[in-house]
Amino acid sequence: MNQLDKKSQSWSALFSEPMSELVQRYTASVFFDKRLWRSDIDGSLAHARMLAAQGIVTAADLQAIEAGLATIAQEIESDRFEWKLELEDVHLNIEARLTQLAGDAGKRLHTGRSRNDQVATDVRLWLRGEIDLILGLLADLQRALVDLGERNVEVILPGFTHLQVAQPVSFGHHMLAYVEMFSRDTERLVEVRRRVNRLPLGAAALAGTSYPLDRESVAQALGMDGVCQNSIDAVSDRDFAIEFTAAAALAMVHISRLSEELVLWMSQNFGFIGIADRFTTGSSIMPQKKNPDVPELARGKTGRVVGHLMGLITLMKGQPLAYNKDNQEDKEPLFDTVDTLKDTLRIFAEMVGGITVRPEAMEKAALKGYATATDLADYLVKKGLPFRDAHETVAHAVKAAIASQMDLSELPLAVLQQFNPAIGEDVYGVLSLRGSLNARDVLGGTAPAQVRAQIARHRARLA
Ligand code: ARG
Repeated sequence: MNQLDKKSQSWSALFSEPMSELVQRYTASVFFDKRLWRSDIDGSLAHARMLAAQGIVTAADLQAIEAGLATIAQEIESDRFEWKLELEDVHLNIEARLTQLAGDAGKRLHTGRSRNDQVATDVRLWLRGEIDLILGLLADLQRALVDLGERNVEVILPGFTHLQVAQPVSFGHHMLAYVEMFSRDTERLVEVRRRVNRLPLGAAALAGTSYPLDRESVAQALGMDGVCQNSIDAVSDRDFAIEFTAAAALAMVHISRLSEELVLWMSQNFGFIGIADRFTTGSSIMPQKKNPDVPELARGKTGRVVGHLMGLITLMKGQPLAYNKDNQEDKEPLFDTVDTLKDTLRIFAEMVGGITVRPEAMEKAALKGYATATDLADYLVKKGLPFRDAHETVAHAVKAAIASQMDLSELPLAVLQQFNPAIGEDVYGVLSLRGSLNARDVLGGTAPAQVRAQIARHRARLA
């Protein structure tokens, strides 16, 4: 039996009694951290190759380690690897099996290394790969939103503030607002990736190691952007996981806001859009129902990811330097954050592609709320009135329109002129929804020409 196989009885000669089963279960992480196995093997290979290059292990040892790790990778991939709870975590499970396969060479792999720098390396490598997948999914979602926006540049949506009809906007413009949010989420993740992609290996337990390691070459072999420059910091901080989760929580918050709008818009009272049936469910009692379960769940899962952010940041706050076992608790929230965000992004890219828009319903709603009142004020300003006076004048006009249950554009010219004699026939062009839309032809505004320019910019960026 080698040392690691005996771990279930005790760690070493130092321990006089074995761990109780409860404590073993409490301290073990293998049933969730085994998903780090590939990063663990990649890190071990890079470490072993450097050890051989530095003359710390022999070429024969390296060969045995490489062959053993290749076998282990095959065993894990084909689900033949026997994960053992008593071996605590992914690292000790793989190392124990390697020692079975490679003998003493396997035992030499841990030279100049500790599980503390090993686990920090594994999580970083794993997270880097996941960030790359998420960046791809964020781009897919943005493309789906740009497509939907482009099909509906000319569709007029009532824009809301305080959920009160405010001003007409292009439906395409509204979709591009989300594209902006997801493009900032992308920027944040690209930033976070730079800090994730640094190498802790070589920090060993906390103080560095007495072996002549070449850390830079390991970083290079693993495609990392650099080496953690302080061994104590390298093994102890999980700020990279926290800032990733913060970026993920924000992306979920953006999805949650979109979800809230989709839920509202597909309700009977709005009737602005339809979602493809495959993203909705029925009710077990009310046969007429089609419920927007997917956006509702996304809104709900946002709470869960925000919770993980709170969990991780709280996990760090009381820890003295350097490594503490508390850090083992970083994995489940981090894994769940990644899984939740990836699934949600995937499902949303698909769902957005299947949204049908009902322009008549949107336009009707936009006509209800005196959405062109600002346009009338702007019209008066162009006739020479100071804006504040124009604002007051239009308030009177809106009051009169409400009293006669008409839209501003339905008031006869003579009536409008009672509020200001400068108003002429040309006012009706301004009071129409489309006139209002076209007038906002400023950079970032909702005029279709501006929206089309933004679509072209996004397309070039996402190509
Ligand atoms: N499973 C541990 C973790 O996730 C690995 C590091 C253990 N290090 C230690 N000194 N006990 O953090």
